Formats: sequence, C-alpha cells, structure tokens
Amino acid sequence: MSYYKIKDLENYFKMYKKSVREPRKFWDRIADENFTWYQKWDKVFDFDMEKAEFKWFLNAKVNITKNCIDRHLNKRGYKTAIIFEPNNPNEEAQHITYEELYKNVAKWSNVLEEQGVKKGDRVCIYLPMIPELAYATLACARIGAIHSVVFAGFSASALSARINDCEAKMVITSDGGYRGNKTIDLKSIVDESLEKCNTIETVLTVNRTNSSVTMKEGRDLWVQPLLDKAQDNHVAAIMDAEDPLFILYTSGSTGKPKGMLHTTAGYMVYTAYTFKNVFNYEENDVYWCTADIGWITGHSYILYGPLLNGATTVIFEGVPSYPDFSRFWEVIEKHKVNQFYTAPTAIRALAKESLDYVQKFPLSSLKVIGSVGEPINEEAWHWYNDHVGGKRCPLVDTWWQTETGGIMISPIPFVTPTKPTYASLPLPGIQPVLMDELRNEIEGNQVTGALCVKFPWPSMARTIWGDHQRYIDTYFKAFPGKYFTGDGALRDEVGYYRITGRVDDVIIVSGHNLGTAPIEDAINEHPAVAESAIVGFPHDIKGNALYGYVILKETGESRNQDNLRKEINQLISDQIGPIAKLDKIQFVSGLPKTRSGKIMRRILRKIAEGDFSNFGDISTLLNPEIVEEIKDGKL
Ligand code: WTA
Repeated sequence: MSYYKIKDLENYFKMYKKSVREPRKFWDRIADENFTWYQKWDKVFDFDMEKAEFKWFLNAKVNITKNCIDRHLNKRGYKTAIIFEPNNPNEEAQHITYEELYKNVAKWSNVLEEQGVKKGDRVCIYLPMIPELAYATLACARIGAIHSVVFAGFSASALSARINDCEAKMVITSDGGYRGNKTIDLKSIVDESLEKCNTIETVLTVNRTNSSVTMKEGRDLWVQPLLDKAQDNHVAAIMDAEDPLFILYTSGSTGKPKGMLHTTAGYMVYTAYTFKNVFNYEENDVYWCTADIGWITGHSYILYGPLLNGATTVIFEGVPSYPDFSRFWEVIEKHKVNQFYTAPTAIRALAKESLDYVQKFPLSSLKVIGSVGEPINEEAWHWYNDHVGGKRCPLVDTWWQTETGGIMISPIPFVTPTKPTYASLPLPGIQPVLMDELRNEIEGNQVTGALCVKFPWPSMARTIWGDHQRYIDTYFKAFPGKYFTGDGALRDEVGYYRITGRVDDVIIVSGHNLGTAPIEDAINEHPAVAESAIVGFPHDIKGNALYGYVILKETGESRNQDNLRKEINQLISDQIGPIAKLDKIQFVSGLPKTRSGKIMRRILRKIAEGDFSNFGDISTLLNPEIVEEIKDGKL
C-alpha cells in the first residue's frame, strides 16, 4: 500500500489515524518513498511549542529543484511542465517541457551565481506572471538563495519595505507587465522603490513589453544577454532540510508585513503530498491555478506542488475579465484543463455577469474544481459547483494560510463527500482543534471556537524573518502549546469544519456572538444582491450593531432602496434570527479589497463608526478610490 495517495474514505480514516498515532512513521514513509535525497534524515521531527521551534527531516540533504525538475527528465523530459497562457489571447501560448525547464533554470542559476548571489542571500523577485518568474524563483532555490517574491501589483513603497526587511541583494524584474488592457511599468516602480533601499547590488531586468526604461549604470542589467552566454546545465546546491527556501510577506492585523520563512524539506514533502491528494492529479492531467505566484497559493500550488509531481501546470498572465468575462472558461477549453483552482472573489465577480459567458463552453475536461483564500459563500459555492463543475466535479474548498505552507483542511475529491461552504476534514497529519475564550479545547461536534492546530506539520512557517518573538507572540501565545490560526470555525455534527472567518470579525450584538459570514450569506441570497460585507459599530444599548455594505446587481439598481433594505433584513431574520438584522444598510458600487481579493474590513469598520481620521495605508488596495465613495455615502 502506498501512503502517498488516498483512495477512498475508509483509506482516509485509516491514514488519518495513523498520522496522529504514529506521525514519525507516517511522514518518514512518505518522505522516503517519493523524493530524491542526497542524504536521508536522522530524525523525522523535533519541536518545542513554547519556543516555537520546529525542525523536520533533521540533517537530511536535498535540493527541491532536483525533485521538481531533474528527476523527471528520464521519464518526462518531453512532457509539458508549464503551459504559459499570455494576457493577450492572440499571443501564442507556450508549452515548456521538463527538458526546457531544466535548461532555463540552469541558465538562470548560472547567471545568478555569476552575479555573485550566494547560498543564503535574499533575492527579491518582482515579475509579472510570465515563465521567467518560474525560472528565476526555481533558480534561487537551486543555488540556495532565499527567494522573496513580491506580487507585481504592489506599490513602490510596499516593495521597498519588503526589500529592506529581508535585506535583499538583488531584484529581478521586467520592463513591464500586461494586465488586461493595461501595461504596467514595473521597472520604474522598482527604480522608485530602490531610492529607499541600500542593500540592492544588482537589478536583473527581463524584457516583456519592449518598454523604454532607465538602466542605472553599475546596478541594472538586461538578463537576456547574460542568459545567452550561460551554460544550460547546472549542478544543484546541496541544501540542509532546514535551510531557508523562501520568505513570503503577509499582512498582519497590525504593524508591518510579516516575512514568513519557509524551509526546504518539510515544505517540499507537504506541498507534494497535498497537491497529489487534494487535486487528485493523474499523470496526463493539465492543472490550472489562477492565483499569482506572488501569493502562497502560487508558490505551493502553481510551482512547487505540481512540479514535484511531474505535473503540467498553467501560468496565466491575464485577468478573468479580459478580453471578456469568458476568459477563464475559454482557457479551460483551450488547454483542456482537468483541475481548476481559483478564489471565491473571482467566482462572485463572474457569477454577477451573464451565464452565457460560461455556458458557451462545455468544460467537459474538468474533473476537480477548487476554492481558496476566504470563506466561499453558499450562493457562490452553488454557482461554481453547478455552472463550472457541472455538478459532476467535486468542489474542494481548501482552507490554509501563508503560514501553513500547504492545504490543511479540504475535501479529497472522490473520497470526501462535499458540503457547501464546508472545508470539511483535516488532511492526514493535521490536528485542528477548536478553543473557547478560557483557552479550553472544545470537544464534541456542533460547536464553534477559535481554530488552532495542536501538533506540528512539515510545511509550517519556521519564523517571521528577523523577529522570532513576533512569531511566538502572534501564533503561540493566545493558546499555549498550540498554533493559533486567527480564524474561527464551526464543527458540524459529523466533524466537518466550516471556516467562519477571522476571529476578529466576530461581532457581539446584545451579548450574542455573530459571525459576519453567515449574515453575508443570507444577504447574498437576495436576488438583487451581488456582494456584501458586514461590520460592527458601537451602539448604546446593544453594545454593537451591524452595518451592511451591499453591492447590487444591475437588476437591483432601479429598485426602491427602502424596500430592498426591508427585504434584506427579512431574509436575515428568517435565516439567522432578528438579532442579526442590520441597523444600517448602505448601497455601494464596490468594496475596498486587497490585491488578493480580501475585503479590508478595517476601513469599513472605521467608516461605520464615523471615524474618518486615519484609514492607515490604503495604497495596497486594488481599488483605493472606492473609499471616498463609501465615506461620502455613509448613513
Ligand atoms: C482565509 C491563503 C475560508 C482564512 C491560502 C485564512 C479561508 C486566510 C480559506 C489566509 C477557505 C483561506 N475558507 N477561509 N477555504 N482559505 N482562508 O495567508 O481567513 O493569503 O486565515 O493564505 O485566508 O490567507 P493567506
């Protein structure tokens, strides 16, 4: 029996039990059977929860890119590793084989070394979603440099903050990038950010848009001439299991972004294992995750997880709305995509548009569809399940975090029965628990609490770069001996988990704890509503009252607003109870969102409270202009 692939529900429960009872044996076997090592480990793991110290596969020696690329060359040299689908549908897609991927990564590795990048140096990568983003990232891992990919939608100030925090030596960027009908001048953003940085020695620039750029003498180089001269083979560096692989920044609820540090072997083993099982990947499948490599989803499930399994993974440069709202479905059809993984925010945006966009395409290649990043509301779940998955593809609602490195709670397709809005069961090796305010573990089912994990897993972040104390304080203080996720969850009568959202989004109204997600679900069921967000604001009698921001569909825009407010509250009253009715409902044309699609509730809360004094940094928002509109329309 292979431990690597879960076959049915009985097998899942057996594996799960084994992973809890004998975690060493469980992970030892998975690591042993499925990877290429220079040297095996002395011990599977070691940890100290109080000090937040975690080590996996101690003293093993490995290189993750040998496992992503080299070891596939014999059997899969001519297989497509990456399909690059450009922003412009008229530009030809590229099919990059494992052999070509090897050569490209080798050339990049040689160039980085020639430029003086050494093991342990930090390299900041600020590129659009083009194949070079994959090459550069993998080349860092190959030579042992620590990559820190920054999403190319971030501003110059966000970029310089990240470069300075990790003291990067090099930036890899491009002249520009295409997004829908826009061209973004990335190089000039880098130039601006570097005015505030003094650790960068070299800027390597990829030519993507043929834009005119300023090249600073002695610092900036075009990469192509260097690649042209470089050898197309490279001996991978021998890395220790716990050598850092990458830093990825994630925003905290307060303070500056946290540079989550992931290390090599544990991350490799866990992302490979979860990719295989959560997407039911089979040898000739084409897999597409629409995230950006600048987020953890892209790191783990566009690059590492798929390549570790010798998969074909799609890199998409564009956006779902360009040239029109059928782009996703067109690309699925074009490349015969078998597994499709996207975010609820994209689903909701597409569900708002005409059904014709999706119904034009049979989408019969699809086998599994996935969701990640935020709770998927019931309406979006059904739309996705019915119109994209055709009610025949399991919808995997995957819960995890930048900090967890890989998927933690998710159905396994064709194994775990799905239930709308439920991430369902923990993957083997993951031990979630729900905690109450008194820091007690809540036993049994049909309960809600703060979601923690009580036992380490291989791909957990090891620290916050340069600030281990903050790592301890953020994740290991609230519930001693446990990793605190910051999320709340509900466990239903059969033990399925539903993530209810950040714990800080819970609003106490007249002594009742109300989660925003179920109320938003109720509102979103109104036929005229496209999307909504709820926040609390102070109320003399109830303590807190609820304020709703509602985006209407086109059909709702001509309706009487007071009638709509009554109908919305009636729906909430029917579904949750009169206690959850909203005191105020403001109709808006958009909600402030981060570039990863999360609603910035902090801003909505301030507006609802009538505090317009300081919204903090809104430069990282996708749509900062919406803040003014919402402020002006405050009730
Ligand atoms: C939320 C993204 C509900 C959650 C991989 C978590 C989810 C945060 C889900 C991490 C899901 C992610 N259902 N909520 N399936 N997936 N979240 O670091 O609040 O960008 O803590 O990682 O997103 O976001 P991050």
